[in-house]
Amino acid sequence: MRTQVGIVGAGPAGLLLSHLLHLNGIESVVVEVRTRDEIEGTIRAGVLEQGTVDLLNDIGVGARMQREGFVHHGIELRFDGRGHRIDLAELTGGKSITLYAQHEVIKDLVQARLDAGGTIEFSAQDVTLHDIDTGSPAIRYRQGDSLRALECDFIAGCDGFHGVSRTSIPDAVRNDYSRTYPFGWFGILTQAPPSSPELIYAHHERGFALVSTRSSTLQRLYLQCDPHDRVEHWNDDRVWAEFRARLATRDGWAPIEGPVIQKNVVAMRSFVCEPMQHGRLFLAGDAAHIVPPTGAKGLNLAVADVRVLARALTEHYRARRDDLLAAYSDTALRRVWKAQRFSWWMTSMLHQFPDASPYQQRVQLAELDYVTTSRAAATALAENYVGLPME
Ligand code: FAD
Ligand code: PHB
Repeated sequence: MRTQVGIVGAGPAGLLLSHLLHLNGIESVVVEVRTRDEIEGTIRAGVLEQGTVDLLNDIGVGARMQREGFVHHGIELRFDGRGHRIDLAELTGGKSITLYAQHEVIKDLVQARLDAGGTIEFSAQDVTLHDIDTGSPAIRYRQGDSLRALECDFIAGCDGFHGVSRTSIPDAVRNDYSRTYPFGWFGILTQAPPSSPELIYAHHERGFALVSTRSSTLQRLYLQCDPHDRVEHWNDDRVWAEFRARLATRDGWAPIEGPVIQKNVVAMRSFVCEPMQHGRLFLAGDAAHIVPPTGAKGLNLAVADVRVLARALTEHYRARRDDLLAAYSDTALRRVWKAQRFSWWMTSMLHQFPDASPYQQRVQLAELDYVTTSRAAATALAENYVGLPME
């Protein structure tokens, strides 16, 4: 099999890249290790930046998002028993975020690819990359009993943090930067109406808590937990007691409780691989970088990467210009590092660090007080949260 761009991974990065290339007349094949049902059923992100929403609308895959997503114009920071609204729209000249689950974005993109006659090779096992530093790289994989080879002009490594693409770049030319956090998030999905019209990021002495939403009947909430914690340790009574404690306000606010239909523990890590390109292999999304979820940036960064990459590949085929491809890594990394900074900062401001001294705890509260009372500081938060300009 031969194609112009071989894409490893059918996450948001891989599927969106494939569709953007298609709209520019460039062929691609997506090779995905999991099944369609699996990728369409994995619960992950929920917050889409304004620029992500605009892009999905512009390329014609935003209709369901517009019907079923929720547009939010603010978020709440809660600490010391009080809520403080950050008015995103007012501080950013009218920008907002949209709550629409990542797996719904995946469903919309898969449908768009298939409707346009695109190829997604699901259930591909033993995926390996070959000859990435030559002019004709290849992706090899197994489907059932048959071994397949996909020859291409370029490979896009969109296979997430645990994929094979990043490690195909030789150690000698790859620099990895990382930071782990001494906590994780315990997340639940509950069948209940929204507890709050906007997201609540709560700082509390027992640890961070987040109230998010999926629909008028399904809510997503998270608690800071031990990174090695297990869902078996959290029966529903303990879950709700902890949410009530961490989210309590002086005027008696409490979350609306419902049956808990899903529980999981998420590790927290910051990671960047530089450069994001080697030879004919270009990394995008979680394959190249991850952030702790506190800033809601991961999915949006993946979208920003492939937007830059799609444009560079388009210029290669359309105008025989390779300067944008040569600049891809630097262009993407400038935005990546700003999102790293923001995600690290939100995480540091809102969580309890087990080794923090009383002095550091006081500084953390001063930071929250500053962000919620200074227009300049609130604006810095807001413009990062709704998303920095795409390029
Ligand atoms: P992925 O979504 O990881 O997709 C990679 C794909 O590659 C997968 O389908 C995988 O099966 C496939 N693959 C892996 N290995 C191989 C292989 N060897 N061969 C072929 N295919 C392979 N981000 C936000 O922006 N906002 C949020 O609110 C947010 N909340 C989050 C909450 C949680 C609990 C978690 C875990 C993450 C959150 N994120 C959020 C981050 C976001 O989910 C990721 O950044 C996003 O999925 C990255 O997309 P991607 O396409 O780069 O990678
Ligand atoms: C989510 O809804 O899953 C979500 C919301 C905000 C975050 C992270 C995750 O910062």
